[in-house]
Amino acid sequence: MTMIHPQHHVASPTKLGTVRPTTSVVAATLLLVGTLVLPGCETDLSGGDDFTVAYNGYLNKCANCHAPQAPGKASDTEKTLDFTSADTARSTLATGTASGLVGNPAACNGVPFVVAGKPGQSLVVAVLDAEARKTFDLPSHPNCDNDAITDMGLKLGGAPDAAALAALKSWITAGAL
Ligand code: HEC
Repeated sequence: MTMIHPQHHVASPTKLGTVRPTTSVVAATLLLVGTLVLPGCETDLSGGDDFTVAYNGYLNKCANCHAPQAPGKASDTEKTLDFTSADTARSTLATGTASGLVGNPAACNGVPFVVAGKPGQSLVVAVLDAEARKTFDLPSHPNCDNDAITDMGLKLGGAPDAAALAALKSWITAGAL
């Protein structure tokens, strides 16, 4: 707070020359700074809402294959994820690890779908984001890399839009609750 120069936040800087920075000027400045900072805080705290945005905007379609009775489910489909509802999607993503993968993707068996606070190390982001796939690197599973991780957007017939992907990442950054 002491680093902030009041004149950056006061509409007419010329007044500062004649009026000493009174308590009310300082209070007004703090109020203004508070107003600018608060929306960011709210975004950080709304993890639950972020997940709902991601689910309703995109992840619900993953249920075509990742659900107990999914029509698109095959013997080689990853077996832990359940996208039947927003609740099952949230809990299987937040607490589950990949299982039942065969062939090249088998290198990712046992990898958590989400590392709370770290979207870049979260497998669910890596299956949707080419950049995250390229840099994915978990010391515990060195072979779960760009060659092993499948592009799930491709399986779905389209990548997530920027808003859905951003919401998923914010949910993870905020702790994946
Ligand atoms: C057409 C069926 C299908 C759809 C739709 C689908 N998946 Fe998959 N998913 C699979 C199969 C099959 C595998 C097993 C690995 C493979 O085939 O590459 C898999 C594996 C995974 C894995 C394990 C990581 C890996 O690379 O194997 C994750 C995570 C995953 N899917 C998430 C999703 C998400 C999130 C969506 C929705 C955006 C989705 N899947 C949509 C069929 C599907």
